Amino acid sequence: MTEPRKTIPRKTIMEPFKIKMVDPLPFLTRSQREELLRQAGYNLFLIPAKHVTFDFLTDSGTTAMSAAQWGAMMTADESYAGSKSFERFEKSVQDLTGYKHVIPTHQGRASERLLFGVIVKPGCKIPSNNHFDTTRANIEYLGGEAIDLVIEEGKDPENQHPFKGNIDIAKLEAFCAENKGRIPCGMMTITNNTGGGQPVSLDNLRKTSDVLRRYGIPFILDACRFAENSYFIKSREPGQAGRTAKDIALEIFSLADGCMMSAKKDALVNIGGFIALKKNNWSEQGLVEKLRSMLILTEGFPTYGGLAARDLEAMATGLEEILDERYLEYRLAVIRYMAEGLNHAGIPTVQPPGGHAVYIDAKTFLPHIPPEQYPGQALVCEMYLAEGIRSCEIGSVMFGKRETGGSFRPAMMELVRLAFPRRVYTQSHFDYILEGAKELVAHKEELRGLRMTYEPPFLKHFTAQFEPV
Ligand code: F0G
Repeated sequence: MTEPRKTIPRKTIMEPFKIKMVDPLPFLTRSQREELLRQAGYNLFLIPAKHVTFDFLTDSGTTAMSAAQWGAMMTADESYAGSKSFERFEKSVQDLTGYKHVIPTHQGRASERLLFGVIVKPGCKIPSNNHFDTTRANIEYLGGEAIDLVIEEGKDPENQHPFKGNIDIAKLEAFCAENKGRIPCGMMTITNNTGGGQPVSLDNLRKTSDVLRRYGIPFILDACRFAENSYFIKSREPGQAGRTAKDIALEIFSLADGCMMSAKKDALVNIGGFIALKKNNWSEQGLVEKLRSMLILTEGFPTYGGLAARDLEAMATGLEEILDERYLEYRLAVIRYMAEGLNHAGIPTVQPPGGHAVYIDAKTFLPHIPPEQYPGQALVCEMYLAEGIRSCEIGSVMFGKRETGGSFRPAMMELVRLAFPRRVYTQSHFDYILEGAKELVAHKEELRGLRMTYEPPFLKHFTAQFEPV
């Protein structure tokens, strides 16, 4: 009998796919980028994508789809009503969530507009860990109040708590007791994008479910990164390592009464979304019918909801692929690798690394640039000039306010988000960027702040214009 071969444990977590379609990267010189940046008023949203080498603006809708997804799209049934593709999509959502009612929409915020359009009344309040911008905006647009109850640890960029997306259960309990009759639903964003892509623990989801049930309040998940959150639970939560991510996801959905999903994240598609609701008293009280009527009015017939049937096929396949644990292990490793690499080079990031993005702490990194000169935006511009990276400032450009007296109220944090598209960039791209990070650190004293020369009335970051100080 021969001895079984002893395998060397592999440390490298590699891309669990091979590539069979490629898109060449644009390469420009620093002086070409300088000219483009000047023309764009130092706002990266105004730079054409063809001049961006590494596009980390968002992980939303930027996924590389699989051969299986493209193949399914070719077999889609584009019938206006009752298409086969809808049946397949509906079943895939039902199998994943256990929810009966499935309502397709064209993306996350369309789901928000529809659901809140039916349940939000002026003066009502909706608690969550942190509401995402569009979620908050859709609630406020209808006269409701979006309340953030994330744990204190979630607000401290250096705290190493493993589940910084958790909701503060004591605050939630007190909030429900104080606002009886004024809470149409409670929410949880998994993972918590606004808080840095931080996960929520299963324990916290169970407790949230319990509190809301005791007060008779329906529980809705903003589930767009549910698979990344499930894998965080598997890898970080005591007692969960032996379960599959799929099993954990199923339990998460079972704790809630429904979900809204932007499929542009963890359904691995470029466009799509849905609302799914459990069959229970809440959904049976005419809610589903109202949602379907509004869907017909604003998105499309209930079996396509503003999408082509081929999009439904791509979502159905994506929802099956996303729970592959080799993929999820690789996905979270990418974010960790980039965060640790940047930290090693001397660039501080929000700790611990989250699920879809790295958040650089520009205030700590560039202490010589005061908040009113936008250290985050200065760093965004330098990363573009140096490597052709497109990232997004989440700091005083987005949230800073000029008071009537002329004084400046900065944002709480000056962050720069590098959000990584799924299955798009490889290890050597990241290594290349990390090599450049060392150069950035060596020259950081030379970076200068910016002055805002055009300040739009709202959503400033999309169109603001700047000039170097
Ligand atoms: N909820 C969360 C947690 C999100 O991150 C997003 C989008 C939405 C809802 C809205 O979905 O874009 O399909 O309408 N986040 C993107 C981002 C835009 O870059 O973080 P959508």
